[in-house]
Amino acid sequence: MLKELVNKNKTFRRFYENYHIPYAQLEQWIQLVRLVPTARNQQALKYLIVNDPQIRQQIFPSLKWAGYLKDWDGPEEGERPSAYIIIGIDNKISDNYIAHWTYVDLGIAIQTLLLSAVENDLGGCGIIAFNRKELYETLKIPQYIDIKVVLALGKPKENVQWIDMKKGETNIKYYRDQQGNHYVPKRSMEEILLNLWSEFNFINNK
Ligand SMILES: Cc1cc2nc3c(=O)[nH]c(=O)nc-3n(C[C@H](O)[C@H](O)[C@H](O)COP(=O)(O)O)c2cc1C
Repeated sequence: MLKELVNKNKTFRRFYENYHIPYAQLEQWIQLVRLVPTARNQQALKYLIVNDPQIRQQIFPSLKWAGYLKDWDGPEEGERPSAYIIIGIDNKISDNYIAHWTYVDLGIAIQTLLLSAVENDLGGCGIIAFNRKELYETLKIPQYIDIKVVLALGKPKENVQWIDMKKGETNIKYYRDQQGNHYVPKRSMEEILLNLWSEFNFINNK
């Protein structure tokens, strides 16, 4: 069920590092992403799968984790991702005209990949905070591929849950308790659902 998958799909940053995700399985998820909508059907996104332990080790130092958790530098050895999918915009396909739309494509691709992971009892974290220079050096990706997201994937080893933000509350920063449980505040329906029609008594569209 989509509802269950979306609910289960939290951002995970600690994993059972020894859990192996086969290349073929990751490839199947990209096979699915191949079919999702893209602006002007340009299909300008390119994907690189990394599950090799040595390359994973080289990628890890270039990633920045959980900016709001000031006293945490990211997952320690043994809890790091088992695989990465690096997503970039192919500038030989994309041009200035469609560049901003390609960001919408990115969102659709990321969510499709994460839901695929969750469907397989895995999970991950989309990362846009990374050291570009280092990543290009490590991966030898050509410059015309503009790396935008590193999707870190693995078998989750942490409890992550969302919590409702109270009325009037503005703090959206996620946090952990002393047991290491991770909490993600979510704005209420009341706040995100615009209801201009009923407020102005135009029509009752329910
Ligand atoms: C486009 C995008 C970029 C993100 N970049 C990072 C990142 O660089 N580092 C990180 O630790 N988390 C990153 N995240 C994860 C967000 O912090 C996370 O989605 C947010 O806290 C909400 O938590 P949830 O996904 O569990 O609901 C990113 C998420 C998205 C969608």
